Amino acid sequence: MRVLFVCLGNICRSPTAEGVLRHKLREAGLATQVEVASAGTGDWHVGKAPDRRSQAAAKLRGYDLSAQRARQVSRADFATYDLILAMDNSNLRNLKALQPPKGKAELDLFLRRYQSPIDEVPDPYYDGDQGFEQVLDLIERASDLLVIELKGRL
Ligand code: 4NP
Repeated sequence: MRVLFVCLGNICRSPTAEGVLRHKLREAGLATQVEVASAGTGDWHVGKAPDRRSQAAAKLRGYDLSAQRARQVSRADFATYDLILAMDNSNLRNLKALQPPKGKAELDLFLRRYQSPIDEVPDPYYDGDQGFEQVLDLIERASDLLVIELKGRL
């Protein structure tokens, strides 16, 4: 199984989701069975490490994002990944526009799939530290449910 998280810049939300899910898969003993990655719809930050604020907030909860580097999502990703999860509706719209007719990937809005109280992970880029905490809260909860789904699908 291959899971790809997608946000706008690939330096805040989707790298956080990648780090959180990878950690939870390791805890669940599924690390070798599920491959996790992230990408951005935009290309401004390609090659960069996650935002310092995302890295710091994640580190305090035990997630290491430091090895990740941003990349832009591509049409080829729809053939590679089984599940592509967008962080907000704008990301989802951009992904639908890119989606080839015969790609194998299932495309969904991450939080809506797991009946989160809100549908979108809010973009924290222009926010204070509280925004990064909320990103982690929302992603941790949905990732727990995603691990349960993946267990059932393997
Ligand atoms: P992300 O956050 O989509 O969660 O990585 C953003 C990062 C950078 C920008 C926007 C959102 N930006 O405009 O540069």
